[in-house]
Amino acid sequence: MKALILSGGHGTRLRPLTYSQQKQLIPVANKPVLFYAIEDVIEAGIYEIGIIVGPNADQVKRTVLGREWDAEIEFIYQGDPRGLAHAILVARDFLGDDDFVMYLGDNILREGIVEHLNHFKRGDFDATILLQEVPNPQQFGVAELSEDGKTIRRLVEKPKVPPSNLALVGIYFFKSIIHEAVKNIKPSWRNELEITDAIQWLIDHGYRVGWTKVTGWWKDTGKPEDILDANRLILDDIKADIRVRTNARIHGRVVIEEGTVIDEDTVIKGPVVIGKNVRIIDSYIGPYTSIGDNVVIENTEIEDSIVLEGSEIRNAGRIVESLIGRGVKIINGTSHPFGRKLVIGDNSRLIL
Ligand code: DAU
Repeated sequence: MKALILSGGHGTRLRPLTYSQQKQLIPVANKPVLFYAIEDVIEAGIYEIGIIVGPNADQVKRTVLGREWDAEIEFIYQGDPRGLAHAILVARDFLGDDDFVMYLGDNILREGIVEHLNHFKRGDFDATILLQEVPNPQQFGVAELSEDGKTIRRLVEKPKVPPSNLALVGIYFFKSIIHEAVKNIKPSWRNELEITDAIQWLIDHGYRVGWTKVTGWWKDTGKPEDILDANRLILDDIKADIRVRTNARIHGRVVIEEGTVIDEDTVIKGPVVIGKNVRIIDSYIGPYTSIGDNVVIENTEIEDSIVLEGSEIRNAGRIVESLIGRGVKIINGTSHPFGRKLVIGDNSRLIL
């Protein structure tokens, strides 16, 4: 069994953050989204991992290889993102004839993939997909089940009129017959080779396609509000771990890493994670906030937000539900406006 994790694509819906950073590398609770996928795969006992890389290949490689993994990782260059099924075409040599899980590198699944992999193996399926009910099926691939709910009748990609509210989660299990399927499909209206069409090809040609339902939460982190949502969901599960001495008032579950200095006038209410070498002075850090390494926050209230590494926020009033890129400066002279909502790019400068 192998794994193919997709970390290519342009990430246009996450601009401006993705002008300078591959979208799967954006940290959620101070960990790149892509790492959640790699961890799930290793947890399921899969140790041969191919990572599809695209426009920012070097950045992805550097980030992944900056950490030790209990697995062999190979990078496979896709070039332009021509579809999820195209990624399988370019990974043909790596995959050989092995069974594999394909995991979209911008998806996070709380429960991991172990149970879903067991279902795929036990049922001797040619493919299995994961489904979850969503309120906005138009934005996903959607499955229509047979009347008894046992088999999949039809899959449609981003339908205007969805046949159900069952969205395809970005995790798929395949036997090698999928290579035949991806060779036999044509690009869709958006000029991509769609994995949904390849799975439909399997169904139409009598192959066994099973499905499992996701019971915990699942997030496709394609848009800024999804990243903030995923951050809340992950922080809901963290355990307190404070590695520095501080006289700040700290309530609830808070993680603080080495080298960070927080003064006694600061109040922190978890769940919150704070990275390395951060400086916090006379501020309030409220629930559901993640602060990356080397950030400075002074005389500011920030809550329900993500601040990426190297940013500096001073006298900025109250910031909520914001996603702040790397190296951003937000500086305010004297006034304290409340409840600003910001989605700003890496290295932006806001003088308020
Ligand atoms: O997240 C679940 C959804 O993912 C499914 O419901 C849809 O059926 C499936 O088509 C897919 O839809 P998206 O529109 O979210 O796919 P997106 O273009 O965002 O690509 C998903 C991931 O794969 C993303 O991390 C980028 C990467 N990718 C994408 C393409 C098209 C590649 O590495 N190469 C590619 O060619």
